[in-house]
Amino acid sequence: MSTSTNAERMEKIVSLCKRRGFIFQSSEIYGGLNGLWDYGSLGVELKRNLKNYWWRVIVHERDDVVGMDGAILTHPEVLKASGHVEGFSDPMVDCLLTGKRFRADQIEPQTGIIYRWADAIDDSFNHFLESEEFRKAIPGWAEAVSQIREPRFNTVLTDLVIKYLINSGDPVKRNLGKEFLQSERMQKSGGPFSVLLQAGKPPEAARKLAIQFYQKRGITHPKLIGETREKIENTRQFNPENGAQLTAPRAFNLMFETHIGPVDVPEFPSYDSEEGIDIDELKAWEQAYDQWQSDMIYLRPETAQSIFVQFKNILEVSRKKLPFGIAQIGKAFRNEINPRNFTFRSREFEQMELEYFCRPEQGMELLEYWKVERLKFYENIGISRASLHVRNVPDEERAFYSKGTYDIEYDFPFGQQELEGVAYRTDYDLSQHQKASGKSLEYFDEETKQRFIPHVVEPSAGVDRTVLALICEGYAEDQAPDEKGKMETRLVLRFHPRMAPIKCGIFPLLKNNERLVAKAKEVVDLLRPHMFVFYDESGAIGRRYRRQDEIGTPFCVTVDFETLGEKDEKLRDTVTLRERDSMKQERIAISDLLAALSVRIA
Ligand code: GAP
Repeated sequence: MSTSTNAERMEKIVSLCKRRGFIFQSSEIYGGLNGLWDYGSLGVELKRNLKNYWWRVIVHERDDVVGMDGAILTHPEVLKASGHVEGFSDPMVDCLLTGKRFRADQIEPQTGIIYRWADAIDDSFNHFLESEEFRKAIPGWAEAVSQIREPRFNTVLTDLVIKYLINSGDPVKRNLGKEFLQSERMQKSGGPFSVLLQAGKPPEAARKLAIQFYQKRGITHPKLIGETREKIENTRQFNPENGAQLTAPRAFNLMFETHIGPVDVPEFPSYDSEEGIDIDELKAWEQAYDQWQSDMIYLRPETAQSIFVQFKNILEVSRKKLPFGIAQIGKAFRNEINPRNFTFRSREFEQMELEYFCRPEQGMELLEYWKVERLKFYENIGISRASLHVRNVPDEERAFYSKGTYDIEYDFPFGQQELEGVAYRTDYDLSQHQKASGKSLEYFDEETKQRFIPHVVEPSAGVDRTVLALICEGYAEDQAPDEKGKMETRLVLRFHPRMAPIKCGIFPLLKNNERLVAKAKEVVDLLRPHMFVFYDESGAIGRRYRRQDEIGTPFCVTVDFETLGEKDEKLRDTVTLRERDSMKQERIAISDLLAALSVRIA
C-alpha cells in the first residue's frame, strides 16, 4: 500500500475512533493535551475485553502464574536501584529556530549542502540611514550620506548622526539617537548558525532562515557574516522539517515526578537589601527545601518494578515453585519527547506485564517458549500472523543485562512497530533490589538445598498499542446492499467476537409494534447477564446493521413477525441471527441463542 494510502487509512481510523466513541483526545475542550488520550464508551469495552482475555490466558488458565496490582507512585530508591533514575532517558535535540524538540535517534539521515554563518551583526543603523524616517529626521543629509557611505567613513558618520539626534532637542529624535548609541555599544551576537539545504535549492532559502534565527536572538536587522558552505551526507544535525540546525543531543529523563505530602515549594526568605539576609532564616529554608526534595517520588515508568519489589512477599504467600510468574496490568507514565502516531506513543499508557521467574539454565528456553505463546495470543484476539513480525533485537540495542530479547511488531498503517517486548532479563532486577534494599530476594530450592537469585523472562505488552492494532486490523471498507438492494460502501470493524465491544445488537423489526418490542426485550433480558448487548429500534433494519458493523458488533438478532408465529407456527420463537462479516442470516430458536453466541464470543 502506498504511503499516502496508509496515511489516509490512518486518518480514517482516527476519525472513526472519535466519531463512534472509541478514543478522544484528552482535555479536548481546553485545546487538548499532547500524548494523552481518553477512551470513550466503546473504547473502554474494547480495552477491557483485551485486558480480561490477557488475564484469563496468563493468570486464570495457568497454575504457575499469580497476579498483583501495585501502586503507581513509586519510592525513588526502587527506581534508583532499577537504573531508571540514572539511565531511563532519551537523547533529545531542539531546533535552534523553532524550539521544536525531537528524539535524536528518530531523525532520519539527510544529505545536502550545509550553509554556515560565523555570526550576524545588527545592521539597524544602516537601515535607518536608508529609511524615510532618516530623511525626515535630518532633512538634506540623505543625499550626502549616500555619497560618503564607505567603510572608512562609517564610524565618523555614525558618531555624527547619533550626536545630531541626541542634541536635537526633539524628544523623539533624542530617543532614537540613544537607541542607536546603545545598540552600537551593545555589540549583540547571535553566535554561529547553520542550515541544511537540499542540493540545487537557492542559498537565499537558507539565508532567510538564518535571518529569522538572528532576529529571534534580538538582532533587529541581522547582517550575516562569514558564510561558508559544505556538502554533507547522512547527517542528523538538522531539523528534518525546515533544515535549521539542532542543538547537540542531551539526555532527557522520561520519568514524571511528583511530591508526597505538602507540595508547596518552600518560599525563599525575604531580605532587606541593606541589611542582607538573616542567616538563621536561610538555614531553615535550606532544611525545608531539602525535605521537599526528599519527598519527591516518581510515577512508575513500567509496572515491572513493583513485581520485583514484591517478589519475596508473593513467593511466600503463593507457595509457588520455580518456574512461576507474577502478572500485572496497570498504568505507566513516560514523558515522551515526541508522542506520536495517535495512541501508539503516549505519555500515559497501560501495560500487561508478566515476570516469569526461573532457574538460570531455563532462561533461554523460556524466552523461546514465551515468544511462541505471545504470538498465539495475538492470533487468538484476531490479529493475523501475516501482520505480526518477530525481531530478534541485536546485542548493541539490548539492555546490557539482557541475554536475549524479541520484539513482536505489527504492521501499523504508519509502519512496522513494536507491540510487545519479550526479554530475558537474567537476575539483574532482583539482584539490584537485593543489593539496594539489603533484603534477601533469594529463592531456596528445597530439593537441592541451594539458595540463588532467580532469573526472569518478561513478556511486556502495551494495552493501548494492542487496542490500536485491533482497530487497524479490523478496519475495512467493503460493498454491501442498501435498503433497495443497491450496492454501497460499508465501513466495518472486523473485530474478533471475543474482543468486540458489543457482542450482539437486538432489534424489533418495527418499533411501533408492542408485541415485537416486548419479544425483543425478552431476548435482551436473556442475553444481558452473559454478554454486552445493545437494543436498537430506530431506523430501517439495514441502517441498524450498518451502525453495528461500523463499531464491530459481530452478531445482530432481529425479532420479526415469524418470531410471533404469524406466518408459520413452526417459526414461532425463532429469530434471524445475522453475522457481521459474511452478512449471512440464519434462523435460530431463541432457546438456542445463548449457547450459539456464547461459543462464538468465548
Ligand atoms: N518492563 C519492560 C518495558 O517496559 P518497554 O519495551 O519499554 O519495556 C513495553 O515497554 C511495552 O509497553 C511496549 O512494547 C509497548 O507496547 C508499551 N509502551 C511502551 N512505551 C509506550 C508509550 N509511550 N505509549 C504506549 N505504549 C508504550
